[in-house]
Amino acid sequence: MSVGFIGAGQLAHALVKGFTAAGVITANRITASSPDTDLPTVSGLRKMGVNFTTSNKEATHKSDVLFLAVKPHIIPFVLDEIGPDIEDRHLIVSCAAGVTISSIEKKLLQYRAAPKVMRCMTNTPVVVRKGATVYATGSHAEVEDGKLLEQLMASVGFCTEVEEDLIDAVTGLSGSGPAYGAAKMLLDSEQHPGQLKDNVCSPGGATIHALHFLESGGFRSLLINAVEASCIRTRELQFLADQEKISPAAIKKTTLDKVLQQPGVSSTSVTIKSRVNLFNHRNGVKK
Ligand SMILES: NC(=O)c1ccc[n+]([C@@H]2O[C@H](COP(=O)([O-])OP(=O)(O)OC[C@H]3O[C@@H](n4cnc5c(N)ncnc54)[C@H](OP(=O)(O)O)[C@@H]3O)[C@@H](O)[C@H]2O)c1
Repeated sequence: MSVGFIGAGQLAHALVKGFTAAGVITANRITASSPDTDLPTVSGLRKMGVNFTTSNKEATHKSDVLFLAVKPHIIPFVLDEIGPDIEDRHLIVSCAAGVTISSIEKKLLQYRAAPKVMRCMTNTPVVVRKGATVYATGSHAEVEDGKLLEQLMASVGFCTEVEEDLIDAVTGLSGSGPAYGAAKMLLDSEQHPGQLKDNVCSPGGATIHALHFLESGGFRSLLINAVEASCIRTRELQFLADQEKISPAAIKKTTLDKVLQQPGVSSTSVTIKSRVNLFNHRNGVKK
C-alpha cells in the first residue's frame, strides 16, 4: 500500500510523523504534493524521507490511499485537477473541515463511476500517536476500505466510525481541541505552546474561529490574571504572617490549644497527661 497527501501542511506533516513512528508505513511509500517547496512542513517531510512533488497528479498516481489535506475551499479545485486520474484502487480520504462526502462524490462522479470516498476528522496529537479520529464512509466505499483507514488512523491514536452528521461536532471539540491545550504534545514536541496552537489554526478555518471566541471573551487574560492573582495573594499571606497581622480568631485551634484555654488547666498538667496517654498507647494499655 502507498499513501499520498494532497497538501503538505501541518496536518499532512503530523500524520506522516505519526504513521512512520507507528511503523504502519515507511516514509518512502508516502508521496506529498503542494505548490510551494519552501514551507517548513515540506522540508520536514523531505527530511523524513517522504517523496515530495509539486504535482498533485503525480501524488495521485503514486498512491492507493489519498488524503486530501488542503484547506476546505481548495478541495473542489483539487478534485477537478485529480479527478481524471482517479482509478479503482484509489481510496480518497478527505480531512477538510466541513466538506461533505456527497460534495466530493458529486465532483468525482463527473470523472468515474463509484469513486471510493471517506471523510475523516482528526487532530495534530497524531504526531505523538495520541490523536482522536472519527470517519464516515461514502456510498461507494467498501467495508475493507473502512478497515484500511481505521488501521492507519488507529496506529496514531483513537479511531472510530461515526455518522457523517456528527463530524462537525467532533471538529469543534477534538479537531480544534489541541489549540486549547495539549500537555503531552507540549512535553514531546519541544515547541513553544504558541507554535503548537498556530499549527492547528488553518487561516480562516474552524479552529481560529473558536480561538477568536476565546480571545474575545478574554480567556487568555482570564487565565493569566487568575494565576497572577493567586501568586499575589500567596505573597500577601506570607507578608501578613510575617507581620503577625492575622487575627487570632482566624487561626484554627488545635485540640491542645482548646484544652489550654479552659479555666484551671495549666500547660504542665496537660503535657504530663499527654505523655502518660502516649506511654499507655505505646505499651498497649487500654484506659
Ligand atoms: N491542522 C489541523 O489540526 C487539522 C485538523 C483536522 C483537520 N484539518 C484539515 O486539514 C486541512 C489542512 O489543514 P492544515 O492545517 O494542514 O493547513 P495548512 O497547514 O495550511 O496546509 C495546507 C497545505 O495545502 C497546500 N495547498 C494549497 N493549495 C494547494 C493545491 N492547489 N494543491 C495542493 N496543495 C495545496 C498548502 O500550500 P501553501 O501553504 O503554499 O498554500 C499547504 O501546504 C484543512 O482542510 C483542515 O480543515 C486540519
